[in-house]
Amino acid sequence: MTTSRVSAATVAGMSTDLRIPPIAARELRYSPVGLAGAALLTAGAAFIHLAVVPEHLDEYPLFGVFFLVVGLVQLAAALAVALTPNRPRLLAVAAGTLALVAVWVGSRTVGLPVGPEPWEPEPVGVPDVLCEALQLMSLAVLGGLIARGPRVRVGHPARTALAAAPIALLVAAATFAGAGAGLSGMPEAFSAAPASADPAGTPVTALVAPPSAAPVKAFTLTARTEVIGGQLAYTYNGTVPGPELRVAQGDRVRVTLVNELPVATTLHWHGVRVPNAEDGVAGLTQDAVAPGQSFVYDFVAADAGTFWYHSHQDTGNQIPAGLFGALVVEPSGGRVAEDVEHTVLLHNGPADTHAVGVNGTTGDLALPARPGQRVRLRIIDAVSPEMDGAAEAPVLVGAPYQVVALDGHDITGPELLGPQRLALGMGQRVDLVFTMPASGAVRLVDSRIPGTPSALQGFFGSPRRADETVTLGSGAPPAAVDLVHLPVFDPLRYGVAGPDPDTGPAAMTAPVVLGERPGFHDGAIQLVHSINTFASPDVPPITVHFGQLVRLHLVNNTGEFHPMHLHGHVMSVLDVDGRTPLGSPPRLDTVLLWPRQSIDVAFLADNPGIWMLHCHVLVHASMGMSMTVNYVGITTPFTMGSRSGNVAE
Ligand code: C2O
Ligand code: CU
Repeated sequence: MTTSRVSAATVAGMSTDLRIPPIAARELRYSPVGLAGAALLTAGAAFIHLAVVPEHLDEYPLFGVFFLVVGLVQLAAALAVALTPNRPRLLAVAAGTLALVAVWVGSRTVGLPVGPEPWEPEPVGVPDVLCEALQLMSLAVLGGLIARGPRVRVGHPARTALAAAPIALLVAAATFAGAGAGLSGMPEAFSAAPASADPAGTPVTALVAPPSAAPVKAFTLTARTEVIGGQLAYTYNGTVPGPELRVAQGDRVRVTLVNELPVATTLHWHGVRVPNAEDGVAGLTQDAVAPGQSFVYDFVAADAGTFWYHSHQDTGNQIPAGLFGALVVEPSGGRVAEDVEHTVLLHNGPADTHAVGVNGTTGDLALPARPGQRVRLRIIDAVSPEMDGAAEAPVLVGAPYQVVALDGHDITGPELLGPQRLALGMGQRVDLVFTMPASGAVRLVDSRIPGTPSALQGFFGSPRRADETVTLGSGAPPAAVDLVHLPVFDPLRYGVAGPDPDTGPAAMTAPVVLGERPGFHDGAIQLVHSINTFASPDVPPITVHFGQLVRLHLVNNTGEFHPMHLHGHVMSVLDVDGRTPLGSPPRLDTVLLWPRQSIDVAFLADNPGIWMLHCHVLVHASMGMSMTVNYVGITTPFTMGSRSGNVAE
């Protein structure tokens, strides 16, 4: 009541304002603020429509033309509303806007009768939601204008501008976000190495293992869904993790992937120097294997050690869903020297718990070993961390131990250690050896070392998770230790120095600078994860010649951990923040960069192909932290992108 009396008084006061022109000069006009609002909202929608033209031209030219026409007509309509408003025009703009909203609702619910996939509903995205929001607001304003009709207004231009400012700001923000997301959409199809660049090149499909007399070890991995612990999982042969594959060094490994999943998938042999055609990267070395299809991988296991396998299609979803397992290559002379060996595969626990699982269980895992026995633990970090990239940090408590291998590569002269935290990034492996003490039990406790995410992404931090344990043997478990204050294992100061194959003069040094920034990527507003300021698929590849020694200068400009993984090669660590290795030279396929750390590595380019180099924190890779190392003269017939069905990350 009070409010309406006040505003009525104000209006009355205004109507007697002496600045009002004589009645004859006044004309009936629509609310200028309303007109400005409707015009701005319509123009904002127009800009978003224009921003999605390139993407649609690529996918289905008719839609591209449609959005171009819609955008241009909407711009004209906005001008007409602002400059020459009348009832028929406002009605026409409102009707057109209503029709566009109706088409959008149809396309997102039942699908449209035309297009690349008639009657298939399209996914809802950032650009279209913002565009529809602008159009609905525009409809509301237009409706108000039409209902109230032209009325006498005293419009002072400054007052009109001030009143329209909030809506102008809103439209500007929504248009920026919508158009940016529209322009950054996942390309329909792109090649990591355009065939046209080298018409005489060798296609990756020709890079297979030559025939040999090596003994063949054949396996079949059937990818299929299974309900595990009440949750739907993607599995190999019905289990998570998939079965452990064991072969001997020098064996010819033949694995048939049978895809019974509802989605396309592939198999990648993490850390194994396979020929490029067997690397399993969807859109780079093969097309993703469609549901109902199969694919045979065939390679020689050249290196002994602890490796693993996982899907390399839509990794951010498929690996946490269960598509991974251990691959152990035993030394050629037979099994390892230890009496007992156990694989300890760390992975994500049930989706809603944030727990870490070990070999498919959560909670304490019991593994057998007797006092006096020499025990080897093959620890594999397959845990997909949160945004901070937190490192896993397993600690062996209850017996002195040696770190005998990193990423499957033996360490020379490993000394005995007390309990230390062993920082592992996703993808990394470590082999430990200890003698079971007379007390009869030893415990492996896995905790986490969190990153230091910027304030900007504070809400992305790692939720606290319980420490997982593996108890070996059956005696009384050792007393718990205060994990957080333990020393961290330093691979640069461990073992005996020896010849490093990669310490010669490098033919080239390529910078790999890791950054993050809020921005547009893959059709959404994200914390873009960049390499050399670009996000995949736009990161320029590192081009190498066969036989070159290549040095990578890795720089982490973020507060997160980044385990950088190079496919098909082994890297020697040469320098970590100015420190050079004094012990056994670490040889890795996945290099863990701590927050703000710089690491120089070198690798011998002896395996032709097009190879991924990416952060193994799956969310970072899918937000752009992925690139390729391309050998000169190699091409690929495969493409990545939404139309190809290949999405490596
Ligand atoms: Cu473990 Cu590119 O992967
Ligand atoms: Cu990362």
